[in-house]
Amino acid sequence: MTGLLEAQGVTVRYGSLAALDSVDLCVHDGQRHALIGPNGAGKTTLLNVIGGSTRPQRGTVSFDGRNVGQLGPAARARRGINRIHQRPAVFPTLTATENIVVAALPRVIPRRRWWPGGRRRIAHHRAGTLLDQMGLADVAAVPAGHLAHGQRRQLEIAMALAGRPRLLLLDEPAAGLSAIEVGRLSEVLRTLPRAVAVLLVEHRLDLVYALSDTVTVLRDGRTLAAGTPDEIRTSPLVRQAYADGVA
Ligand SMILES: Nc1ncnc2c1ncn2[C@@H]1O[C@H](COP(=O)(O)OP(=O)(O)OP(=O)(O)O)[C@@H](O)[C@H]1O
Ligand SMILES: [Mg+2]
Repeated sequence: MTGLLEAQGVTVRYGSLAALDSVDLCVHDGQRHALIGPNGAGKTTLLNVIGGSTRPQRGTVSFDGRNVGQLGPAARARRGINRIHQRPAVFPTLTATENIVVAALPRVIPRRRWWPGGRRRIAHHRAGTLLDQMGLADVAAVPAGHLAHGQRRQLEIAMALAGRPRLLLLDEPAAGLSAIEVGRLSEVLRTLPRAVAVLLVEHRLDLVYALSDTVTVLRDGRTLAAGTPDEIRTSPLVRQAYADGVA
């Protein structure tokens, strides 16, 4: 079975450092796949390669059966690959609603082209639904720069979902969140529609094991192990890698 996303032989070098060395990764439609590993393992670099912001020196990335290696991040987003970053990236002076509207607009196709403001109305409606889902309805009119870190995280996920992605790339969504916020985030991710596949980079292994169907472990730019959460949890190799150096 071919995957929705297939990365093969991906190699990224920075000078003499191989951030990624011949890494393969496959994510199927609707799958929750986690990418874990110690600091500096190459997780963010692999998300950058899949999202199109880093070009690998070697290797291929295909999405939905097509090679997307030559496409930049915006073109990949149009095809359905959306991401959130290790540090939340929102427009601070725009309200929560406006942030989602801006994210949704490029992917909104008006039902009737002559309807003035139609696309904006649809984007606003989508924003309202997403704010409700994320528990952000109360702060819809608050500028994103005034939101708490956890709320900005939820907002960024809502922005990524506004583009109706088929693959959501999440880089450490739980970083810096309080216990309550982590609980809320976990619930949001658990209830995402299966129309969206998720590639989750996360240091919180409790979240990883609770949310994912499959897990890949990177270390020093190479795949150390891949399997189900149970297989990874009990793998001596993985325990050793984490004992050796995780934040
Ligand atoms: N632009 C860059 N220039 C030079 N080296 C880089 C660059 N980006 C990443 N690296 C290096 O590549 C390696 C992999 O980095 P990456 O950010 O992918 O790791 P990570 O697994 O995401 O780590 P963390 O868990 O700390 O976020 C690290 O050694 C890092 O220092
Ligand atoms: Mg990282």
